Amino acid sequence: MVPRHMQAIGIAGTGRLAQALGRLLVEAGEPVAAIAGRNQERTRAAAAFVGARAATFSELPALASRLLVVVSDDALEQVAATLAAAGMRDGVALHTSGARGPEALKPLAEAGVCCGALHPLQTIPSPEAGVKALRGIAFGVTAEGAAAAWAEHIVRVAGGWMLRIPAEMRATYHAAGVMASNFVTALVDGAAMLMRMAGIAESDALRALAPLLKTAVETTLALGPVAALTGPIQRGDRDTVALHWAATAAAPPTVRQLYKAGSLHLIELAQRRGLAPEMAQQLRRIYQRG
Ligand SMILES: NC(=O)c1ccc[n+]([C@@H]2O[C@H](COP(=O)([O-])OP(=O)(O)OC[C@H]3O[C@@H](n4cnc5c(N)ncnc54)[C@H](OP(=O)(O)O)[C@@H]3O)[C@@H](O)[C@H]2O)c1
Repeated sequence: MVPRHMQAIGIAGTGRLAQALGRLLVEAGEPVAAIAGRNQERTRAAAAFVGARAATFSELPALASRLLVVVSDDALEQVAATLAAAGMRDGVALHTSGARGPEALKPLAEAGVCCGALHPLQTIPSPEAGVKALRGIAFGVTAEGAAAAWAEHIVRVAGGWMLRIPAEMRATYHAAGVMASNFVTALVDGAAMLMRMAGIAESDALRALAPLLKTAVETTLALGPVAALTGPIQRGDRDTVALHWAATAAAPPTVRQLYKAGSLHLIELAQRRGLAPEMAQQLRRIYQRG
């Protein structure tokens, strides 16, 4: 019998993460036999990038006993059903969704496959960038038995580390990831809009904000949010806080809501840093004004 770590790997999905993960595994000498998709042309291109054979979903069970199911979250059950109907009866399967647990591969589990979830806590904007971005990161894993052992192996191959997430906590875990990545994008966009309202050219806005943003992120990560906090809310500069809030009145409604929600959380954070409760209350009242 072929030892488990030598058994062929099949990848279902031809998108950004499927290609990045496939290529990383191939570069590490892992036996990736095939990559499968629903579109022939995209599958051929993905296979060329990964360095594996192109296949259809239905061909995959005959080619590999360890499957990575890397398709859109909403397509997981459907693709799992196709793989089960094509004869996948044993072996292991891992999907890469952050919010879903092993239950997303239910049709495969019911067919006898050991299923789990292995989510790279990283943003993968393209296959090329992904190969590098996947190294050394945290992976959110929910798996048992052979699926857990394979997930651990992949994390090791990527030089990463593992966060064990209970199945019922995956949505919460993934919401944290969304806050740390997509919310930063929303905040930067909102800040750039306020800069434009102040008459600063779009091309200058991001360039001007970049050092401030990078230092804020680096300091917050290095010192922790409480110690890193600066600014008018932390200082209790009531008049400045009121001026800012009035100045955002002309901003798009979503930017204003974002500003208010962020400010109310900053007041809570400032209290943890020692801001007096009476001052916190006075600051909160400013945001009750329209
Ligand atoms: N990219 C990231 O930053 C990232 C990070 C961590 C985890 N993930 C997870 O990785 C998985 C894939 O994400 P991605 O960013 O790589 O997505 P993507 O680039 O948009 O690729 C999605 C893939 O799913 C396939 N697909 C979509 N609907 C399908 C259906 N009904 N039947 C069969 N195949 C279908 C697409 O096929 P077609 O090309 O034919 O449409 C494509 O191969 C998701 O579970 C996501 O949560 C992504």
